[in-house]
Amino acid sequence: MSGPGGLGAVVAGLLACAGPSIDSRLHGEAHWRRVAVAGLGQAEARPDADALAVLCFALLHDACRWDDGHDPGHGPRAALLCREVVPAVAGITGARLEVLCRAIHDHTAGGVSDDATVACCWDADRLNLWRVGIRPRPDLLSGAWARDPERIAWGRRLQSEEVTWEAVCAGYARLLAPAASA
Ligand SMILES: [Fe+2]
Ligand SMILES: [Fe+2]
Repeated sequence: MSGPGGLGAVVAGLLACAGPSIDSRLHGEAHWRRVAVAGLGQAEARPDADALAVLCFALLHDACRWDDGHDPGHGPRAALLCREVVPAVAGITGARLEVLCRAIHDHTAGGVSDDATVACCWDADRLNLWRVGIRPRPDLLSGAWARDPERIAWGRRLQSEEVTWEAVCAGYARLLAPAASA
């Protein structure tokens, strides 16, 4: 899972598990790419965060939405999917899997977290609230990186940037490389 090829397989494997929401303009794949980018920025700033789990969160957290309306069950449904597919597709198991499942399950509940990985996941999602016309509230962001006014403003610009999975994977591969070769 150390090279861009390995991460490309993770992305392809998890995208293949997604439901119809993958095509949603608001909650679909384009959103997932930008959550992955925002998650990467935070994971770079927080070495205690599980960067691969943050990437998996980006891919799965909205993958089980029924539609773009009020759907509080989409987090719990996606957590079930995560438990089913992530060990085989991304190699995340044990305590790491539990943290990832919790981040996905509870991302619909509106809280903040002291856990570095959960914080990166939730803040990455919330920095992208601009796409639905909502300015992220600093008090609902878990980490200092995300609460920085500059970062909140960056989230707005991110909505008009072109983001590819190739670029996302290259970024995560750079971050994960030292750990993989250690
Ligand atoms: Fe969601
Ligand atoms: Fe989302």
